[in-house]
Amino acid sequence: MKKILVIHGPNLHLLGEREPDVYGKETMKGINELVSATAAELKLAVDFFQSNHEGEIVDQIGLAKSKYDGILINPAAYTHTSVAIHDALKATPVPAVEVHLSNIYQREEFRRHSLTAPACAGQISGFGKTSYMLGLRALKAVVEPG
Ligand code: DQA
Repeated sequence: MKKILVIHGPNLHLLGEREPDVYGKETMKGINELVSATAAELKLAVDFFQSNHEGEIVDQIGLAKSKYDGILINPAAYTHTSVAIHDALKATPVPAVEVHLSNIYQREEFRRHSLTAPACAGQISGFGKTSYMLGLRALKAVVEPG
């Protein structure tokens, strides 16, 4: 069974209470449960990691090479700033899909550019918690094509 690492970036541990009008009312734990259910349906194994620290996310992406077949990542605010996460994604042979709850292209100017998406197989943005399930399905197609 292929193994997927789900990475949540900064402040996503606050989902549910954080700007629910933008990010929805689901908690990160709730999203992880929904992702786990979709993973079971897709016959994928999933692990979860959340950090508010750029270097820790870089470390996890680096470690993924020996343990995982795919990465589902919401880099959160680091999407718009992190050359380090871009470089870590480029440096690993493990394919990644980027997801966002909100449609970053409809929001403030500073959110409309992703530094990390060019280092990913693709990006899904704007479907709330469903972005994660769509992202997992997209990643399944990348790690197990056909
Ligand atoms: C986000 C969008 C980012 O701009 C923001 O910094 C987040 C969440 C999203 O999932 O919509 O923290 O990645």
